[in-house]
Amino acid sequence: MKKATKIIRAGLDKKRNAGAVNTPVVRASTVVFESVAAMRDATDRATKNREKVLYYGRRGTPTHWTLQEALTALAGGADTVLAPSGLGACTLAILACVKAGDHILVTDSVYEPTRNFCAGFLKRFGVETSYYDPLLAEGVAALLQSNTTLVFCESPGSLTFEIQDIPAIAAAAHRHGAKVAVDNTWASPLFCNPLALGADLSIEAGTKYIVGHSDAVIGAVTGTADAIEGVHRASAALGIAVSPDDAYLATRGLRTLAVRLARHQDNALRIALWLQQRPEVKRVLYPALPSDPGHGIWKRDFSGASGLLGVVFKQTSAAAVAALIDGMELFPLGYSWGGFESLIAPLAPGGARSARPWAEPAPGIRLHIGLEDTEDLMADLDQGLARFRKAL
Ligand SMILES: Cc1ncc(COP(=O)(O)O)c(C=O)c1O
Repeated sequence: MKKATKIIRAGLDKKRNAGAVNTPVVRASTVVFESVAAMRDATDRATKNREKVLYYGRRGTPTHWTLQEALTALAGGADTVLAPSGLGACTLAILACVKAGDHILVTDSVYEPTRNFCAGFLKRFGVETSYYDPLLAEGVAALLQSNTTLVFCESPGSLTFEIQDIPAIAAAAHRHGAKVAVDNTWASPLFCNPLALGADLSIEAGTKYIVGHSDAVIGAVTGTADAIEGVHRASAALGIAVSPDDAYLATRGLRTLAVRLARHQDNALRIALWLQQRPEVKRVLYPALPSDPGHGIWKRDFSGASGLLGVVFKQTSAAAVAALIDGMELFPLGYSWGGFESLIAPLAPGGARSARPWAEPAPGIRLHIGLEDTEDLMADLDQGLARFRKAL
């Protein structure tokens, strides 16, 4: 089955759904059993065999299983563990791969709260983190230490948009016995399959494109049979539970992912090409542009581009960027991205970098290109750029 078909069919189970197309929201804490033997059997099947069997609400209900099965089928993994946020999925994947005394390698382009987790929480538990240049590819081999258990990637980075060479990184990590986890949120499982590229764990902030409507926060980790077992264990040990309402919203969003992303991509490419021609603009950070340094690997490893891009100005100032942003009509200012709507935020990625400094002029802007008509979006951006020039 092609991915667009899997997105529609995966996880649908008429029996589970009492005949309804969509799995209803099943809320449960206590589940009651017919007998002690039935209780033991359900518990063992769920906790030992990882079967989708209802035994206690914290560990999932049919609403969660539908989403898990759909994401597993799309990512081509063995199973999916849900998390209460995208950041929760990143930290769960990392925790599953480390113990005190270990070392991990994390891309310098990583989402900042993931970096903060490594620098603070992980360090307290005796796990050291080094940051590596996202463009290193097989060069990460030189940074692997005898105690390195994980190489964490994010491709492209959600602020600086470098595309990483996952097959080369995975080959180096695996030769060394380390696992590879990829934050795949920008591409979503529709446009990139990190597991097929050699990663062990693929992470989604479902909050973005999977939910797609900016009204729920959820995360997911899909993995190979070998790697996902550790994530199941970490999730169970930490008492991680996901609201069935949010799982339902994520599944509902997922069913239209292919049509939404096609439009995000179309709109974003148009706007990126238009922005590239603007005299104020030095660079548009968007791997689908042929001029982007990551374009070759993006073409090799991805089947599409989403709606998030960065803009670097030739000359800039905080006041000019504020003048641009504050007057926007169709690009509200806000965190996150991946909903149906366009969004804008200032872009100043330099502060958190340590392995490969970000030397471009800052601040720039980060745009999420939504599903609106691009003529309206360009007219709004055109006025914003006029305010920018005036305030410079
Ligand atoms: C690349 C990336 N990963 C993870 C996250 C975290 O997702 P959430 O907001 O659901 O915790 C974000 C959020 O912006 C993100 O951009």
